Amino acid sequence: MSEKTMKPIQVGLLGMGTVGSGTFNVLRRNQEEIKRRAGRGIEITMVADLDIAKAQSLSGPHVKVVSDAREVIANPEIDIVVELIGGYGIAKALVLEAIAAGKHVVTANKALLAVHGTEIFAAAHAKGVMVAFEAAVAGGIPIIKALREGLTANSIQWVAGIINGTTNFILSEMREKGLDFDVVLKEAQRLGYAETDPTFDIEGIDAAHKATLMSALAFGIPVQFDKAYVEGITKLGAADIRYAEQLGYRIKLLGITKRTDAGVELRVHPSLVPKQRLIANVEGAMNAVMVQGDAVGTTLYYGKGAGSEPTASAVIADLVDITRLHTADPLNRVPHLAFQPDSMSNLKILPMTDVVTSYYLRLRVADEAGVLAKVTGLLAEANISIDAVLQREADQVSQAGENQTDVIILTHDTREGVMNEVLTKMQSLPTVMAPITKIRKEELN
Ligand code: HSE
Repeated sequence: MSEKTMKPIQVGLLGMGTVGSGTFNVLRRNQEEIKRRAGRGIEITMVADLDIAKAQSLSGPHVKVVSDAREVIANPEIDIVVELIGGYGIAKALVLEAIAAGKHVVTANKALLAVHGTEIFAAAHAKGVMVAFEAAVAGGIPIIKALREGLTANSIQWVAGIINGTTNFILSEMREKGLDFDVVLKEAQRLGYAETDPTFDIEGIDAAHKATLMSALAFGIPVQFDKAYVEGITKLGAADIRYAEQLGYRIKLLGITKRTDAGVELRVHPSLVPKQRLIANVEGAMNAVMVQGDAVGTTLYYGKGAGSEPTASAVIADLVDITRLHTADPLNRVPHLAFQPDSMSNLKILPMTDVVTSYYLRLRVADEAGVLAKVTGLLAEANISIDAVLQREADQVSQAGENQTDVIILTHDTREGVMNEVLTKMQSLPTVMAPITKIRKEELN
């Protein structure tokens, strides 16, 4: 039987939400072209969702809708299970059960893979099935494909991305409108950009899940979310965004992973980025990822990181990959984490105190003779070189009557542990009037 006359590959979908309905729509709309690419039709024939009536109306009359996901997994006709439930709980059990039943799995679940990826990929490897996860990082941007295949010739040096649309939307609004975080968060929730419980987004956890996966793919190391440094955007003030702008920088929440002689950096935190970099101009809910490879140089991938059809675009790309490859010898498939499972590296992930980067510091100081000299003296003692200083005119009179002002210092690279020791000393100076703000700075060149 030629591939063209083969019956379509059968897909079972767990969780019929925004991405599930997008997947139906795109598969329906583009079915002929997708079939010409895949060599065979792709059909979702079964859906599991607790809301059967809604799922049935979204998927159409020819799809069997059940409330128990295990019915989908147990169906011998189903070749691929698409997990769109999310979270680490039931989703983990179902993915492992699908693998054990010999099904290939497509998932958009970054949290699950960042935390339990080692166990899931090992189970899939042992069973000879594929677990595909293009939709888990940066939605519609094919960054997994780029890291795993397109850049395979390279020794990758670093990856840095805006990989959370909610926080990028909030930061864009704060900068453009000069508003504080809390005000913009409420507005983002009202407009549906931010979840009612926005913790995973605003605390950087979602971005860290995605950075963890990119780190594993870039360097051939196991997924290690527990070793990621995670800092969100909740403490950022409108003043820092303004000062950064005056110094020629934008503040972005970056997910960064970098290979150094000492080990691998894996971190998510707000970063100053020079405003002439393309990535600094990624605004609103858009995502972008930069990858630096030794052969290719710097590359940049930009697009929608969430949403119904952008995420469906990634899910269907995985369905096509599996359709093309499922009959191939598992040894000849693209490895889950880009490197062959028996050739993974044991490069360690560095603690944050060993990360080398540069800094933006904002100090609220008494505006009197010698203050700046004391502050810069502490930096000099620790061999930390200063890149720029911005001093505001005295703008506030404290209760004691003395003038106060903001001093902003940009430093050159230093080890974070050294910077933290200096900051402890600086903070205890009697002329430093408020907690010092420290934001990391990345030149990305
Ligand atoms: N909540 C994420 C974001 C999308 O705001 O980018 C899903 O990971």
